Amino acid sequence: MEDEHGNSRGEARQSFFAKQQLINSAKAAFQLLSAVMRNATIYPDAHPFLLASAEKLLSKIEELLVGRKEVTFYLVGGELFFEKISIPIDESLVLVMEQFASRDVGGVSFKPGLSQTELIKFAWLVNKETSFFTAEGGLNEVIAKENIVHIELHRVLLVNKKPKDTAKEGEKRTAEIFMDAVSTVKELVRAVHLEKAINVRKMNTTVQTMVDSILDNRDAFMGLTSIKMFDEYTFAHSVNTAVLAISLGTFLSFEKAQVAALGMAGLLHDIGKVSVPLDIVNKPGKLTDEEWEMMMRHPIEGALLLSDVSGVTKLAMVAAFEHHQHGKVRGYPNIDGRHQQHLFAQIVSLVDAYDAITASRVYHSVQTSPYQAIRTLINQRGSTFDPLLVKTFVNMIGLFPVGTVLKLDTGEIGLVMHQTRDLLRPRVLLLDKFDGSEKEAGTEISLLETAGGRYKRSIAGTINPHTAKIDVKKYLTE
Ligand SMILES: [Fe+2]
Ligand SMILES: [Fe+2]
Repeated sequence: MEDEHGNSRGEARQSFFAKQQLINSAKAAFQLLSAVMRNATIYPDAHPFLLASAEKLLSKIEELLVGRKEVTFYLVGGELFFEKISIPIDESLVLVMEQFASRDVGGVSFKPGLSQTELIKFAWLVNKETSFFTAEGGLNEVIAKENIVHIELHRVLLVNKKPKDTAKEGEKRTAEIFMDAVSTVKELVRAVHLEKAINVRKMNTTVQTMVDSILDNRDAFMGLTSIKMFDEYTFAHSVNTAVLAISLGTFLSFEKAQVAALGMAGLLHDIGKVSVPLDIVNKPGKLTDEEWEMMMRHPIEGALLLSDVSGVTKLAMVAAFEHHQHGKVRGYPNIDGRHQQHLFAQIVSLVDAYDAITASRVYHSVQTSPYQAIRTLINQRGSTFDPLLVKTFVNMIGLFPVGTVLKLDTGEIGLVMHQTRDLLRPRVLLLDKFDGSEKEAGTEISLLETAGGRYKRSIAGTINPHTAKIDVKKYLTE
């Protein structure tokens, strides 16, 4: 089966799995490298433990070498990359990362022909004091002298740290995919208003495209959800909910079909609002009792509408019906207290709430920063939302989500562009001109960067971009 981009579904599915597997293998390889390095400090050269760990590392690298000329890891500002892919690291890898960083190593490549002996020698050498390398003329010189020919070290990358996200020829950019999804939702709403058939095929293609690209570029999509698009918010809200639900699904390692179902559920969760009069849906102030009564029917109307559409996953219907159930707090519609909200509905419900809270500052000029929205969700864990789900969501989106404007302790202003392993230390673009040009100038830095054993910069607070008249959109869409 071919989709509109000429990819076969099978191919797309394969690439999704392949990418997830690649991330896991790369992480495993780096963990094994750290184990070999640790073992090299504890055991003598021929000790079976050390040999066994080197053997495991070697076979992992050989597995990664299939179809590649070399296996390269980059260490950039406290983060780990395999090729262009960011590899999530946990505390167990931090020490190794710092060990490399303190020896001015910005990357390491392993080449075909690599032997176990080379790995052990390399691990043993890297463990040596920094002064040893300075005396010998650098780590690369030392490993050359030791006849380690299948491992190459790279210097710290100085300019615009992250390996560039280069869209291939003909490949759609994140913002385009996002806008396409907004117009798909717009078309859908129009079709339902006119009682025309829903273009199910188009909906499915839109969701597939989003799922494929979010795996590559989650932070970029997350940034787009933070913009809120005042003019088209009703439609953008559905896309934001889909993006966040898809992201959470991939973060939870759901299978692709499930992630796609979540995306569809996100896009369609509020479709029942088409049967609520527009002036009520868009009313900025408080709703009267009667208006609220009408508004509260949208989950039922949505489920009814979707029950009639074939080709759309039934989970979308369930999520539309249950997305205002809100766990123990029993939302609406009022159903049996023993009813258990479906996990997918819980996910949609959580990300829907997050998007609505962060949008309220645009709509009602309430000053709710993404950071405050995260705090609100954390406060409602266990009652409105499942605590584990909230925790996972926060781990994914960060305490300072992409698009947040930060005041740093150096007096600088930074815009959050990517999350890192440390929720308090995202990657930020330093803003000084506020005209969008900083992106080209490559002033993106990581708050994980250290100098002399201390963090170079830390977060001192958040700034409301609307009050400060900072046009965040310029930085997140181009
Ligand atoms: Fe809703
Ligand atoms: Fe909603």
